[in-house]
Order: sequence, then C-alpha cells, then structure tokens
Amino acid sequence: MDEPPPQKILDILFGMWRARALHIAARLELADHLADGPKPVAELASITGMDAVAMHRLLRALASIGVFQAEGESAYANTPLSEALRSGVPGTVRDFVLCFAEEWMLETWKAFPQVINDGVPAFDPTSGTGLFDYFHEHGAESASTFDAAMTNFSALINPMVAQAYDFSSWKRVVDVGGGEGSLLATVLETHPHLYGVLLDRAEVVARSDRYLSALTDRSETVSGDFFNTIPGEADGYLLKHVLHDWDDKNAVRILTNVREAMPAHARLLSVEFVLTPGSGPDLPVFLDLVMLAYGGRERTEAEFAGLFQEAGLRLDRVIPLAPGAPAIVEATPA
Ligand SMILES: C[S@@+](CC[C@H](N)C(=O)[O-])C[C@H]1O[C@@H](n2cnc3c(N)ncnc32)[C@H](O)[C@@H]1O
Repeated sequence: MDEPPPQKILDILFGMWRARALHIAARLELADHLADGPKPVAELASITGMDAVAMHRLLRALASIGVFQAEGESAYANTPLSEALRSGVPGTVRDFVLCFAEEWMLETWKAFPQVINDGVPAFDPTSGTGLFDYFHEHGAESASTFDAAMTNFSALINPMVAQAYDFSSWKRVVDVGGGEGSLLATVLETHPHLYGVLLDRAEVVARSDRYLSALTDRSETVSGDFFNTIPGEADGYLLKHVLHDWDDKNAVRILTNVREAMPAHARLLSVEFVLTPGSGPDLPVFLDLVMLAYGGRERTEAEFAGLFQEAGLRLDRVIPLAPGAPAIVEATPA
C-alpha cells in the first residue's frame, strides 16, 4: 500500500536531517575507516577524535536508513550504501555529499524565501556574487570541495559521453568551461586520434594537472574567459554543465562566442539535463530550483533550441545517455 500522504510529507521533510548526518559521516571518513571490516564504536570515536556516545547515536541513525549496519551491541559495518561514501573508489559520491550538504548549500536555501519573493538570484553571477566568485573568495577548500564533487559526478557521466558520440571525424576539440579537464581527459583517452584544448578560469586550469599531465603531448590549457575569447579552429566544442549556470542572456553570449570561434563544419556538444515537459524525474527540476538562486536554470529541448537559434546555431539532435542522466545536445552553425 502507498504511504499515507502525511507520512510521505514527513519523509520528504526529514531528508534534510539525513543529508546532514551523511555529511558528517563523509567528513569523518567513517566508511573509509570501516573498509576492512566492522569496528567497535569506541575505536571509530578514537580514530576520529569524536565522543563515543555521540558517535554511536550518529551511526544508529544512519543505520536506520541503510547507511552502515550494527554488528552486535556496539560495533558497526559498511553496507552497500555506505560503501558509496568511501574515498576514491569507483562510483564514490563522498565528494558530492561533502559539497552539496555544505555551508554554501545551507546559505542557498536560507536565501530562498527572498528568491521566490523577488524572482531574482540571491547570488548573481553577473554582479560578482555568483557561485564561482563565492568559491574563489572562500578559498581553496571550498573550491576544491566543489571541483571534487563535480569530478565525482563527471566520473559517472564522462565515459558515457566519450562512448555515446562518434568522434571519428574530429581532430581538435575544445572543452569550454571544462573545469579541471576530467571530461577532456576521458574523451582523449577513449579516442587517441584527438587533440584537446581546455579553457577555464585561470585558478581552475591551474588544477588540471591531475587529469592532463599524462596527455601533455595531445592537449593544452588556456586560462581565459568564455565571455571574451574562445579558441578557434577546432572540429568540435564541448560545453558540459556550463549553460545551466547562466540565464538566457548570458547563455546566448557564451554560445555566440562559441559560434564565432567555430569553423563552419564544427559541432557543439552541450551536455546538460534536458527537462521533460510536465513533471519529470525530480533531480533535474530540483537542480533547476537551486540554479534559480544563482541566476542559472535547467532547460527543455525547446528552450535549448531557442538559445542556439539566437546564437546563430541550430539544434540538430538530443542524444540521451541514460535514464535520469544528462544528455548530449548537439548543435551546428545555422
Ligand atoms: C558547473 S562547472 C562545469 C565544469 C565542467 N565542464 C564539468 O562538467 O565538470 C562550470 C565551469 O565554468 C567555469 N567558468 C565559469 N565562468 C567562466 C568564465 N567566465 N570563463 C571560463 N570558464 C568559466 C567554472 O570555472 C567551471 O569550471
């Protein structure tokens, strides 16, 4: 039988508690400490320097939702869910949890009554208070937590992009706002005939070594601003999770710059969630809500087509990657 509505609402409501409890577990690396098998709570408390009684209560709460499981009276073990909180294992979402239950997210939701009232972003990327300025100003830890979260997500999506698209006719590819270069590295590794250019802000490009250091003979980095100049003479341009950061006016500015840099034969692959009209899966529409606070938005295929058209491009097709995942939106000069 379906859950009664009041119970369902409470379940949704307490999602915030669960998210914050997950965040603490991720920060304390509890899943890593349990990687070799169950441990007594006292030992976990001692390794992490936390209070043993409080630690027990945290683990008991998390175990109630399947993250960790009790082993006898006073020990805990990993479960399939907590395994996904381990650092550096394939499929890990630890960095994602660290980033998306962090202070900036709490600040975002605090701003929401005002955002909904005014319909204007609380953190406007065009006035120097946007997300990337925030991370720049809040120092290396915040920025690298965000980059690591993007990398967690990208590790799931990048191989799908590299495999779903036929890159055989391309020689040179530019990843515009390509972050630390994880997508570019995956595409270059999967397609050894390609040469890649990574464009991003100087402080981000400076961290690209971990992905591109093994590909220096087939790649280069450009520190720059996609509102100014985008490298030309490529066969293809990647734009992954960039357009959703911006309102229509700024998204068209970026696309127009890409269009101006593109040779006539080149193609643009924008990797984004594509909203389905009506109520689709909840992650993309909730992400859209978050982006409302930052002046960005998620879009439908028709909305992407409108942006491309304004920028002198034509949306050719949408290539789905997996259910609930972002898709490749392919465009060419109109
Ligand atoms: C949401 S992230 C996506 C990063 C990467 N494409 C990925 O999917 O992991 C957006 C990227 O745009 C970059 N960015 C923001 N403003 C920029 C600008 N004016 N010029 C170049 N890059 C910029 C950010 O530094 C960030 O790496």
